[in-house]
Amino acid sequence: MASQIVSVRLGERSYAIRVGSGLEGLAEFVRQCSRPSLVFVITDTNVSDHSQGVAEPLRRTGLNVQSFVLPPGESQKSLENASRLYDFLAEHQADRRSLIVAVGGGVIGDLAGFVAATFARGLSLFMVPTSLLAMVDSSVGGKTGVNHPRAKNLIGAFHQPCGVWIDTDFLVTLPEREYRSGLAEVVKYGMILDPTLFEYLEQHAEAILRRDPNHLRHVIARCCRLKADIVEQDEQETTGLRAILNYGHTFAHAFETVGGYATWLHGEAVSAGMVCAARLACDLGLASIELTERQEHLLRRFGLPLRPLPWSLDGLLRVMHSDKKAVAGRLRFVLPRRIGHVELIDDVSEQAVRAVLQGLMDDAKLVARP
Ligand SMILES: NC(=O)c1ccc[n+]([C@@H]2O[C@H](COP(=O)([O-])OP(=O)(O)OC[C@H]3O[C@@H](n4cnc5c(N)ncnc54)[C@H](O)[C@@H]3O)[C@@H](O)[C@H]2O)c1
Ligand SMILES: [Zn+2]
Repeated sequence: MASQIVSVRLGERSYAIRVGSGLEGLAEFVRQCSRPSLVFVITDTNVSDHSQGVAEPLRRTGLNVQSFVLPPGESQKSLENASRLYDFLAEHQADRRSLIVAVGGGVIGDLAGFVAATFARGLSLFMVPTSLLAMVDSSVGGKTGVNHPRAKNLIGAFHQPCGVWIDTDFLVTLPEREYRSGLAEVVKYGMILDPTLFEYLEQHAEAILRRDPNHLRHVIARCCRLKADIVEQDEQETTGLRAILNYGHTFAHAFETVGGYATWLHGEAVSAGMVCAARLACDLGLASIELTERQEHLLRRFGLPLRPLPWSLDGLLRVMHSDKKAVAGRLRFVLPRRIGHVELIDDVSEQAVRAVLQGLMDDAKLVARP
């Protein structure tokens, strides 16, 4: 089955993302971007079988490959674990020519990427994302980091990988809820940048839910291309362009903070957040009802949440006011005008936001009534 290559053009930091099925050609692909002295594979217990599949062909080319396996979960993205990894690298005499290979979801990618960015002032990093979210989002763009007790991703660095290898076969073992959660970010790309991708998702929703490799390859490569286009123009989040990737995320962040991170997976919060953003756009006269309905219909088919749980409106608003995008008491949102096009809208009134949240929470009560 043919694979696709997505090129991320960032001058000296350019790299290729391979999207395909299987591991054939992996060792050659790694060699094209790095000639490492030593290889360190960092992974978690849920995907350690996949990581062995990655290490095997590298060993066969004569490379010395060491593995470090962490428990799974967001709490692993810590400075303590970064420090344990520094110890491990130092013990094994890692040097500037060593290669870090991250095999896992966004947690492993962010943590291993941060270690690669900081150990010995920077080691080469090769990403092998295994979750759908990591394939379409976190492994592209060079953001790495760990959490601080006070905030997620507070400590971090930009560090581009030298290559990304996406094997859609890895998704076979991804839990259903994690998979659907990743689909929310896929829908997001359609909404913010690509009406054709959105239509493709509508037309092939069943095949995508079945994780059909041909459809997955097309969708994942398209999402990587769209993210790469933005990253190429705004590598370090300085021009504001990268902000459109936050569509649905101001609401999502409030749901995650008020509802607790255990209630919903990130993509589930993003799904309900995109519903809120589209309804807000509709109320403000920016978008049509048809847009909100099409988006909700697709998210429903993907089994994603469409409305917030009955959280405190005051609590949600408080978080939104403290969001990076809120400037001097005004609320800013990335809102859709049509499918495939969003804009950063300043000065949204708190009243309009409350009305959207209240309306959706009331809807939920109606649905729940027998
Ligand atoms: N750097 C960025 O640009 C960026 C962007 C978005 C999100 N993130 C970060 O990514 C993280 C979320 O990523 P995630 O959703 O991949 O979470 P994750 O890494 O925790 O993976 C989710 C779960 O699925 C498991 N898993 C992953 N792949 C699997 C597979 N193929 N088979 C079986 N189990 C598998 C993991 O072990 C974990 O239990 C967050 O920390 C977030 O901050 C970073
Ligand atoms: Zn997200």
